[in-house]
Amino acid sequence: MTRKNLMYIALWLLIQLLAEINCQMTPYKPKLREGHTATLIDNKLYILGGDFGDNAGKDFFYLDVSVPFNTQNLLWNDLSNINIIPSHYDCTSVKGGANNNTLFFYGGDKHVTDFVYTFNSQSNSWSIPKIAGDVPINKFEMTGIIDHKGIMYLWSGAKIADRTDVDDMLILDTINLVWGKGNLVGVPIAREFYGAALLPDNSIIYIGGYNAKELPLNQVYLYDTINDNWSAKTTSGVVPPDRDGLSAVLGLDGQRVIIFGGSTNYGGNTVKDLIYELNLINYEWRIPKTFGKIPKSRMYHKANVIGKYMVISFGGGYDQSTESDILLLDISNVDEYIWTNEFYPPTSSIVPSPSAIPSLTSKVSVSSPSATSPPSSNSSSIVSSQSSQLTSSSPTAMIGAVIGSLFGGILLSFVGFYLYRWNRNKYGDKNPYNNDNNNQYQYDHGHEIVQPPNDEYTINHQHRSTPASVINNSGQKSTPTANDGKLTLQGLQQEIQDLRQIILHNSKQSKK
Ligand SMILES: *[C@@H]1O[C@H](CO)[C@@H](O)[C@H](O)[C@H]1NC(C)=O
Ligand SMILES: *[C@@H]1O[C@H](CO)[C@@H](O)[C@H](O)[C@H]1NC(C)=O
Ligand SMILES: *[C@@H]1O[C@H](CO)[C@@H](O)[C@H](O)[C@H]1NC(C)=O
Repeated sequence: MTRKNLMYIALWLLIQLLAEINCQMTPYKPKLREGHTATLIDNKLYILGGDFGDNAGKDFFYLDVSVPFNTQNLLWNDLSNINIIPSHYDCTSVKGGANNNTLFFYGGDKHVTDFVYTFNSQSNSWSIPKIAGDVPINKFEMTGIIDHKGIMYLWSGAKIADRTDVDDMLILDTINLVWGKGNLVGVPIAREFYGAALLPDNSIIYIGGYNAKELPLNQVYLYDTINDNWSAKTTSGVVPPDRDGLSAVLGLDGQRVIIFGGSTNYGGNTVKDLIYELNLINYEWRIPKTFGKIPKSRMYHKANVIGKYMVISFGGGYDQSTESDILLLDISNVDEYIWTNEFYPPTSSIVPSPSAIPSLTSKVSVSSPSATSPPSSNSSSIVSSQSSQLTSSSPTAMIGAVIGSLFGGILLSFVGFYLYRWNRNKYGDKNPYNNDNNNQYQYDHGHEIVQPPNDEYTINHQHRSTPASVINNSGQKSTPTANDGKLTLQGLQQEIQDLRQIILHNSKQSKK
């Protein structure tokens, strides 16, 4: 066996090890947050700011969605050191600009003096653009929606100054950098923390929200961006209970709006039913059928549609030690949506990341359909890229390598298995792959979020906050901060992680 082949074997074994030991190692682990923004630009989901219960954030980081990933093992990329926006929460951002690849940030809390900041995703740089027109009042707690012409609509929200709700439709042309105002004839009552989405007919739908109380969803509102006029629609069916802090996305067929989560009492409790769907033809609500492990409800999170997934990020209501910051709902089949941990990028034939490759110990029991979907013939998985490299060697060398790697693989799988067992015994049953013991379909631990003191909400509109710490106090054990086992394995795992990234990257490159 040549040295080269040995190297391949070693590589493969290392990857197996990574998959089998604790997969939670990530280079950057963001804090729990609410009221952040989430913007998809060129296969990167950028997360900005948010509040951590007691203070707001300057954080800025992204998730690469051009490669497959497992939500149990997210590889965040931290860009906080280049962020120029002061600490903030409950602001909004969209993708816009002349080249349709600039992040436009609007709003801010009392710390933020400028209304708009832009992030150029090509040069990785922030700036404060000069915008013509009447300078608007600064507001937040609303959702900005951009249309197909690069115009951003900022309806209502709360004034930074006194937290009263603002009755206006602020319009920002992100291409020509001009402020404008929309028509207010027939505008619904002002509100904060509503759900909003752009519809195929260039209307924006506004759902729920808060104005002194949670607002009902038996009516939804449409702002027609072409004709600059408002209309209301009365809804029927299984109307969701009143809520704010929800998210709304357009379904893939353009005929439905899916809403997720929210709060029933301005941040005190999350809503019970996670998902509702509004039919855009007859305005009837229903609870869609879902498959897979149902996550805990969330509020003041964000949701984006990426490929066939509704991608829910952060928010209040879950425990970071038991659930991922990212939830994936596969919405491709309208008859049954699927909660899954596995993300596959839209147009690619890329197959599972190493952590998703079933191995002796990775408990394939959580087999979402997507995880078992057949890899395409030109797949670029580790395994296939490995064998394609091997075929370039001589046949005998290849046979040797295959046998060697098989043997070594089995051996290492055993080693890995025992390491895994040891790891699990040592740290308690926290391995994300070991959830076969949990009742998959009864995962909701009741709604045990501790309700913060009432005065926090009744006295002059203090910022609704369900501090991260409150959620952590709800009886869940938190992850041990440092443990010897992890520390000694850390360096190794990090290296394997990097290696994995390189391999994924290379196999992606070679496909171009
Ligand atoms: C910008 O890109 C989005 C897709 O990400 C598209 O829907 C939109 O129409 C584009 N906007 C412009 C002004 O081209
Ligand atoms: C909005 O304007 C369009 C075009 O003038 C018109 O056809 C439509 O009826 C208007 N809708 C409402 C609710 O006024
Ligand atoms: C796989 O690659 C071959 C040669 O590069 C190509 O002819 C074929 O169409 C590809 N198949 C798929 C499914 O992409």
